[in-house]
Amino acid sequence: RQVSLIGAPTDIGAGARGASMGPEALRVAGLAAALQARGAQVEDRGNLQGPVNPWLPPQDGYRHLPEVVAWNTQVHTAVYAELQAGRMPILMGGDHCLAIGSISAVARHCRERGKKLRVLWLDAHADFNTNTLTPSGNVHGMPVACLCGFGPQALIELGGATPAISPKWVRQIGIRSVDEGERRFVHEQDLEVFDMRFIDEVGMRHAMELALATMDANTHLHVSFDVDFLDPSMAPGVGTTVPGGPTYREAHLCMEMISDSGLMASLDIVELNPALDERNKTALVAVDLIESLFGKSTLMRK
Ligand code: ARG
Ligand code: MN
Ligand code: MN
Ligand code: MN
Repeated sequence: RQVSLIGAPTDIGAGARGASMGPEALRVAGLAAALQARGAQVEDRGNLQGPVNPWLPPQDGYRHLPEVVAWNTQVHTAVYAELQAGRMPILMGGDHCLAIGSISAVARHCRERGKKLRVLWLDAHADFNTNTLTPSGNVHGMPVACLCGFGPQALIELGGATPAISPKWVRQIGIRSVDEGERRFVHEQDLEVFDMRFIDEVGMRHAMELALATMDANTHLHVSFDVDFLDPSMAPGVGTTVPGGPTYREAHLCMEMISDSGLMASLDIVELNPALDERNKTALVAVDLIESLFGKSTLMRK
C-alpha cells in the first residue's frame, strides 16, 4: 500500500488550544515507521499551512469561520491529490473540523470513480451540530452536519456537489456525548449511531459487524478517528475527554475488524492534543491502534 501522511497543524475548530501540535506528536511517536513495518510505502508530505488561531468568540454561531474554510480548503486539495495519484491519504490533525476538507475530497473522488462511500466515525461525539444548535460555536462539533449539507455555504460547497455525503453513508461508533439540540437532529436525519450503551450491551464485535455490513468490493471506506473515542484513562491527550469510552482491547478489536474488511482507503487521525498529554502517551496509543488498523495481529491469520 502506498500511503501519504498529510499534517494539518491547527486547532482552529477546537475549544482548547494544542491540537495544532498533533501532527508532530504522531511523527515523534513513530507513525511512519509503524506503517512501514506493516508493509506500507510511506511518504510524509509535511505540513499544510494556514491562518493562525485568532481565538475569538462565535460570530453567527461559528468561531473562526473564515480560518476554518481556509484550512479545510488546503486539506481538501491535498487529500484529493493523493487519492487521484492512487495513494491512501492519512490526515494528521489538527482538530476534527478538518474532516470536512478530507471527507469532501474522498466523496468527490468516489463520485468520479463510481465508488460507494462509507464513513466510519470513531468518536465520543456525534459532531452533528449546526450554528443554531451548537453550545460552543466550535466547528469541530459540526463536521458531520456540514458534510451532510447542513452548514455554511463555504463549507458545504467545498467538494463541488452539495451535500458531499448522505447521512445514510455514516456509521458512528463509541458515541457518549451528544448535545440537546444535536440529539434531536441526529434522530431527525436518522444517523446510524452505535453508542456506548449499545457497545456495552452487544459487545464491540457485534457492533462492528453491523457497522461494516453492506459494504462490498466497490466500497471506499473512510475512517475518521477522533482520538477522544478512546477512554480517557488510556488517552488523556485530547481537548474534550468523555469518560466511559472503549477499553484498550475493545479499541484494538475495532481496528482489527476494520483491517479485516480490507476496504479502508483513507483515514483521519484528529484531536490529539499534546499540550494535555502525558509524555506523548496518547500519541503512542494512537500509533499502536493504527498498527492494528493496518493488519498487525498477534498470530498470523491471513
Ligand atoms: N458537542 C460539543 C460541541 O459541539 C463538543 C464537540 C467535540 N468535538 C470533537 N471533534 N472533539 O461543542
Ligand atoms: Mn481510489
Ligand atoms: Mn470527539
Ligand atoms: Mn470528533
